[in-house]
Amino acid sequence: MKTIITYGTFDILHRGHINLLRRARELGDKLVVGLSSDEFNAGKHKSSLLNYENRKIVLESIRYVDHVFPEDTWEQKIQDIKKYGADIFVMGDDWEGKFDHLREYCEVLYLGRTPSISTTEIKTSLNDEN
Ligand code: CTP
Repeated sequence: MKTIITYGTFDILHRGHINLLRRARELGDKLVVGLSSDEFNAGKHKSSLLNYENRKIVLESIRYVDHVFPEDTWEQKIQDIKKYGADIFVMGDDWEGKFDHLREYCEVLYLGRTPSISTTEIKTSLNDEN
């Protein structure tokens, strides 16, 4: 039984998110996702269109996702890896190198991002239309 762990905001879910979640899940048997809380995002000066509860409902309905839990701090990752018995930590390669210190606890993989799509781009194109 191999458990994969990943993190993100997953606001306005798009095919880049789905590709990432599918490839992460295919690496093992169970995918657990740390979903950035609204407070954590605010601390990063990042705001989401959908609040945590709404993003969680959408994410939980994805067939590749087995469990969603809140990401409230940068520091909780080691604790989460131990709690969920994660074998592989996965992030998109926009985070390349940023989580290498977790290699002490599990395998760390950065997967190639899907080109030409992001929540930021969707928000920008919606703003341009108005
Ligand atoms: N991701 C991806 N391909 C994309 C967009 C995101 O693989 N085109 C991955 C990210 O690398 C991350 C996860 O999806 O591992 C969640 O990313 P998130 O920051 O929530 O989504 P973005 O669309 O990148 O949002 P933003 O534009 O606000 O940064």
